[in-house]
Amino acid sequence: MIKKLFLTLVLTGAAVTLTQAQDAKAVYEKDCAKCHAANGNGDTKMGKKLGAKDYTDAKVQADMKDDKAFKVIKEGLKEGDKTLMKPSEGITDDQIKALITYMRAFKK
Ligand code: HEC
Repeated sequence: MIKKLFLTLVLTGAAVTLTQAQDAKAVYEKDCAKCHAANGNGDTKMGKKLGAKDYTDAKVQADMKDDKAFKVIKEGLKEGDKTLMKPSEGITDDQIKALITYMRAFKK
């Protein structure tokens, strides 16, 4: 009985993680890839114009801190009056965390 319950919990946990990972990919490709590029290197027209960094670079990844990344995705990023990145809309805190995990995987 206990064993069965445990197994159910493990399986649901795995399912949730999997959905979030797929979710993050879908959100990323829809909302982020136009600047950061599908592979994270920022090599897009908009990304180059706005100065998106190369997130396949281990050094760039090391400079990216989870708490700052979270804040930027949630609240957006400005440079003076210029908006580099808009605050995200309609995504949950958990989705933001999943997006950061997704971006971490760009590192070569
Ligand atoms: C309009 C272009 C644009 C879009 C769309 C965009 N970003 Fe950005 N983002 C930037 C620019 C420019 C920067 C600043 C340079 C850099 O860090 O690459 C940035 C910075 C970041 C950072 C770095 C924060 C730090 O640690 O300094 C993260 C994380 C990030 N973006 C995630 C995302 C995610 C996730 C999405 C989609 C929900 C997204 N961005 C959509 C342009 C964009």
